[in-house]
Amino acid sequence: MLRSPLLLLALPILLTACGEPEDTRPGQPVAHRRAAFKEILKNFEPMGLQLRNQRYDEKQFLVLANNLNKAKEAPWSHFAPDTNYPPSKAKAVVWSEPEKFETSRQSFFKAAEALAVAAESRDQKQITIAYEALHDTCRTCHKSFKE
Ligand code: HEC
Repeated sequence: MLRSPLLLLALPILLTACGEPEDTRPGQPVAHRRAAFKEILKNFEPMGLQLRNQRYDEKQFLVLANNLNKAKEAPWSHFAPDTNYPPSKAKAVVWSEPEKFETSRQSFFKAAEALAVAAESRDQKQITIAYEALHDTCRTCHKSFKE
């Protein structure tokens, strides 16, 4: 309890120290796509925790897998041309190699769908394989297309 006032005081300083430029462009495409990726992560991360900590909960996992499968659509319409500016962490190759980006996106879509199907099976082994396959698609795309 004693620590919380201190944390509250420290917070504004931390925020200014990060000093990220705000997305002030019309429609805020960068802010929108980042929020969309955060929504994906919000569903992705707890599934990983369940599997790694032997806390698999069939019902909750299924909800998360289905949420991610819906959330997977959201970021992409916000990658319009000329939207690579701070605070974006996207690499220029997103726009210079659109076919490669598209291939990576399609693998991610397939993997997200496959995880939702695996979640229905309630078979932890199958689910873990599908989860890892999905994780690979995040990593592969980030390696080429994200700072
Ligand atoms: C086809 C490419 C691609 C795939 C697949 C992909 N991402 Fe990303 N992701 C990006 C790009 C590009 C950015 C940078 C966006 C920006 O900053 O403008 C990003 C940014 C993020 C961010 C940072 C958001 C922020 O606050 O700045 C998170 C978190 C993230 N992705 C999570 C994931 C997870 C989890 C997966 C897999 C389940 C995933 N991504 C799959 C391309 C991808």
